[in-house]
This record gives sequence, C-alpha cells and structure tokens, in this order.
Amino acid sequence: MSDKPVILTDQNTGKSVELPIIRGTEGEPTLDIKSVAPELGYFTYDPGYAGTASCTSKITFIDGGKGILRYRGYPIEQLAESSSFLEVAFLLLNGELPNQDEYTEFVNEITYHSMVHEKLNTFISGFHFDAHPMAMMAGVVGSLAAFYHAKLDMNNPVERKLAAMRMIAKMPTLAAACYRHYMGWPSAYPLNNLSYTERFLHMMFSVPAESYKVSPVAAKAFDLLFILHADHEQNASTSTVRLVGSTGANPYACVAAGISALWGPAHGGANEEVLKMLEQIGHVSNVAKFVDKAKDRDDPFRLMGFGHRVYKNYDPRASIIREAAHEVLDELGRSDPLMDLAMELERIALEDEYFIEKKLYPNVDFYSGIIYRALGIPVSMFTVMFAIARTVGWVSQWLEQANNPSRIGRPRQVYTGPAERPYVDIEQR
Ligand code: ACO
Repeated sequence: MSDKPVILTDQNTGKSVELPIIRGTEGEPTLDIKSVAPELGYFTYDPGYAGTASCTSKITFIDGGKGILRYRGYPIEQLAESSSFLEVAFLLLNGELPNQDEYTEFVNEITYHSMVHEKLNTFISGFHFDAHPMAMMAGVVGSLAAFYHAKLDMNNPVERKLAAMRMIAKMPTLAAACYRHYMGWPSAYPLNNLSYTERFLHMMFSVPAESYKVSPVAAKAFDLLFILHADHEQNASTSTVRLVGSTGANPYACVAAGISALWGPAHGGANEEVLKMLEQIGHVSNVAKFVDKAKDRDDPFRLMGFGHRVYKNYDPRASIIREAAHEVLDELGRSDPLMDLAMELERIALEDEYFIEKKLYPNVDFYSGIIYRALGIPVSMFTVMFAIARTVGWVSQWLEQANNPSRIGRPRQVYTGPAERPYVDIEQR
C-alpha cells in the first residue's frame, strides 16, 4: 500500500499543496517539501537541519532511538568483531563486501598509493612547529588539489574513484608527517610490507636511531577504532563535504573542508576536549561538581563526549570503544586513572535526571581518547585519528553524490537585518 500524500494548507490564503512521502528502506518517513516554496511561497525553516534530510543515500543507516548503526546494512557490532578497516573501506566505497581477490587487489592499491609527493614535506616544514595538526591537515590535504587537479577528469568515474583511493591511502602518511614535524623528526616513508594501521604506526613512531617494531595490540586497536569512525551518514563534516562537492569542487578540496568541520569541539574535536575535561576534573571526588556545572544553564560548560544529535540512546560505538579501552589497558598491563574517572562520570551522569530526561549518553568521542593516550598518541592528534578513518566515509559519500549528480546545495535564510535605507556619506555619520 502506498502512502497518501500529506496535504499542507495555508489558512491565510486557502491554498493547499500535496507533499509526497518518501520512504527509505528503513528509518522515518520523510516529506518531500520541494513544492512548498514554488506553490505556497514559503521557505521552510529548520535551524541545524534537525528535521531535514539533505539527500538520499545507500551508505549508512542510523536509528538513534534504538542505538543502531549499520554500514551498507551490516551492523557495526558485527563489522567491529569480524571485519578489518580496509574491508570496511571497500564496503563503504563499493556497496558490497569484497571477495578474496577483490580484497587483495584493493589492499594493494591502497598500499601503493600511500606515498606522497616529496614537495608536501617541504610544504609541511613551512608550518610553525606547534601548529595544531588539524590546521595542518586541512591545509595539506587541500594542497593535494594542487598536485592532482590538472590531471583529474571529474566526469570520469574511474578517475573519481582513484582520487578517493588516493585520499584513503595518503591520509595516514600526511597525519604522521604532521606529527613528525611537531616532534622535529625526519620524514618517515610508508612501508609496503605492513598493514594499513601498522604502516601508520610505523610512520608515527619510528626514528632513524633504532629499529621500531609495531605493537600488534596498537595495530589491532587502531583497526577497530578506524572501523567505528569510518562513516556516520550526514553528520556536519560529511554534509560539508557534500555541500562543497555539490559545487563541482575538486575532491581534495572537499575533504579539506570536511577536516575543518570535523575539528570543531561539537563534532570530532570533542575527543580532544574529553581528555582535557577529564584532566581538569582530576579526581573522582570532583565528578559531581562538574556534572552540576554541565547542568547549569548559566555555565557554558558541557560534558564533552556526551550527547548526540541523532542518538537518543547509548551510541553503539561508545559501548564497543569502552570495552576496547579495558582490553587495551589490560593487554598493555596498564591502568589509567582517567579511565576510572570517565567511568565514574558516565555512572553519575546516567543516573542524573537532567541527562536521563534529555537522553544524553556517551558518544563515540567519550572513551576513544583513553585508547589513543594508552597507545602514545598526543592529545592534539586525537581528532586527526578520527579524520584518517572518516576519510573513507567522506570519499564514499562524495562518490555517491558525484555518481548521481544533484543540484548545487544552496539553502535560503530568514533575513532579519535592516530594511532598505539610503547610504550616508562618512562626514554625515
Ligand atoms: N552536556 C550538558 N548538556 C547537554 C550536552 C552535554 N554534553 N549536550 C546537550 N546538552 C543539553 C543542551 O544544553 C540542551 O538543553 P536544553 O534543551 O535545556 O537547551 C539539550 O541537551 C539539547 O542539546 P542541543 O545542543 O540542542 O543538541 P544538539 O543535537 O544540537 O547537539 C551535540 C548535539 C553538539 C553533540 C551536543 O550534545 C554537545 O555539545 N555535546 C558535547 C560535544 C560532543 O561530545 N560532541 C561530539 C558529538 S559526536 C560527533 O560529532 C563525533
């Protein structure tokens, strides 16, 4: 049975418009409001796009009420348990899990695109040593457009795919280069005999003075974290990538824009802020005080790593990461007082009426920093880890959009500035 359209009637003019209902495979039904502006003469107002679907997509499904996340139909829990990051990357890009031959070819391709032009190291050396790595990443990834723009035929799907693959392959190399610049270490080149995450860790931490063996615990933990961060439908950074992409811009420029959006503390930058917050809280005895601060409307402080626009239930990624944090600390034979603090903060917040009523739960950023910290990643690099993984989602979403071109993204506004007024010469002001 097909849905009857919703009829929207303007009580002022008596005019009506029929709004068809769009149903996806799953998820809330959506009203097609394209005819509202031309038929009724009204724009629709939805700040933050909280109730607005900006596109159709076959990539990722979230049911925020039930705490469900699936990539191409596969539950995140199963992918986290059984898959690998590059297999998930293939899935997100292509829509299906690879067979053995496809997987081997894909891994090879990613591996052989992991080097970057030597001039990029010169570019990176121009940054001040303590530049924030996310600022460097936005600049360096954007600069890839300068290296590949002339040769990229955006109308050719094979070339578009190549650009996407290049970005997945080069992101760890660039991230490690930014870190090494901060440390004052010489460049490290990608080693093709290592896996994706091993190669990344080798580029991050190896120094010329001694041999470096990648910890299997670290490589496995990164693989899991990268799977969990790979895509999350139309979040702020992905929507940014799509919006920039809708103009026909070069894909490297689109992803650079996504990196900038991800950096914000309300989005991926929260993983850095969680660690700073936990350090600021300092001791479990202070947790209640900070929970009270978060509830105080007159205090701008928020519990970082808590709350989500879509999840009104536990973020399924947060539960997996919490377990992984325990495992990593156990396997490394370490304890971290910040882990105890985080768990106490979660316990108190989840029993608090304010957080219960507003359905505020830990999100993906709450526990990830504990793992990064245990594995020696400096706090300022946390969001860069997120960006490496999310690049897969950004380029998959960019490809989906580029393969099915739609109109340029161009929202309207409610103008609340001055009405027309005459220009006044400076002497008369
Ligand atoms: N601490 C305290 N109160 C909160 C928090 C929080 N972390 N998050 C939301 N609230 C409160 C708000 O004050 C608001 O209260 P009100 O209705 O009385 O005004 C209510 O909950 C709804 O919050 P909004 O800001 O309207 O929710 P929105 O969907 O716009 O924002 C966001 C979601 C940005 C994630 C928000 O929860 C937040 O700032 N969290 C902390 C930052 C964070 O962890 N970001 C990472 C998100 S995951 C990601 O992007 C990878």
